[in-house]
Amino acid sequence: MSDKTLKILIDKLQKEKDLLDAEFHTLIEGLRVDMDKDLSIKPTRNVGYLFSKARGARDAVYGNFVYLRGLIEFTNICKNNCLYCGIRAGNEKAERYRLSKDEILSCVDNGYSLGFRTFVLQGGEDMFFSDDMICDIVSDIKRKHPDCAVTLSIGEKERESYEAYFKAGTDRYLLRHESANEKHYGMLHPKEMSIEHRKKCLFDLKDIGYQVGAGIMVGSPYQTLDNIIEDLRFMKELKPQMVGIGPFIAHKDTPFCDKESGTLEDALILLAIIRLMLPDVLLPATTALGTIHPLGREYGLLAGANVIMPNLSPGNVRKKYLLYDGKICTGDEAAECVECTKRRIESAGCKVDMGRGDFKRLTFQESL
Ligand code: 5AD
Ligand code: FES
Repeated sequence: MSDKTLKILIDKLQKEKDLLDAEFHTLIEGLRVDMDKDLSIKPTRNVGYLFSKARGARDAVYGNFVYLRGLIEFTNICKNNCLYCGIRAGNEKAERYRLSKDEILSCVDNGYSLGFRTFVLQGGEDMFFSDDMICDIVSDIKRKHPDCAVTLSIGEKERESYEAYFKAGTDRYLLRHESANEKHYGMLHPKEMSIEHRKKCLFDLKDIGYQVGAGIMVGSPYQTLDNIIEDLRFMKELKPQMVGIGPFIAHKDTPFCDKESGTLEDALILLAIIRLMLPDVLLPATTALGTIHPLGREYGLLAGANVIMPNLSPGNVRKKYLLYDGKICTGDEAAECVECTKRRIESAGCKVDMGRGDFKRLTFQESL
């Protein structure tokens, strides 16, 4: 593949925010070859060119600020049995926990004093937490800290539940679609779950008025390049305000224990492509990216990411929220994680922003 062809495709992607299927194939396969094994992202190379365009697209909307979100993993109890996930119901080895409302609120208070103005409450699909309880927790957080945004990430619910959480003050909702392709989705999930319902949830959430996050694991078992292209097309259709992308990493006590993990290279290429397709999206450099490579999150920022979610969960439960093996930041105090994250952001040439960091719609001028 000549360098010229790839650069033309990158320019086209930036301009038209889309490519034909065959062009996506050429681009992604060409970039995979081009990616230096030592990851020196030289501006002269195609990946360097792609990443600098991605950073340019990000900077045009948000500047080179990286938003911090305080992540509170408040329950690892889950009724589902996703084949990839370490906290699946069928994993009898997982040590289960759930935080009380008071514990959640004290994590938020601690985060607030560290400067956070966005809190992400994430958990398994734990039926112990009724809609009323979730609404009560969210409205207490908002009453105490009206200047903060609250994000929920608690899985698939009925539309009425999503409406209730929104009314209680929830601003954002994260629900990765995992795979837009029915067959591939079915290979990752038990038969009770369907991509049709997942998509319905995402469109309901958008319709209600949430800032919505979709996303996938890169390199999940059986994923093909065509699946990834289908995911890109689905995200163009949904127009989420956030996209969560990280490599798949095997967990030893799941049916996918022997599957190969996704690569840092593929995850970075995908991050940059998404930044060019959806320039105004909020795009985290995920914990999984930092787990697959010690500098994964820094590389993520170089590829156009602009969000990092340090862990604010209490120390005694961190090791239990293990979606995959080797997860980083399980031994650190919240304050340590924050300091470490800030250093990493600065080392990647970006600036820290502890504000709410809401989605900004790209103006017509900026899109030119
Ligand atoms: N490897 C990487 N990411 C995972 N997730 C769940 N299990 C794994 C794994 N083994 C991701 C899913 C989920 C998000 C919360 O974490 O995409 O949506
Ligand atoms: Fe948690 Fe580095 S971000 S220790």
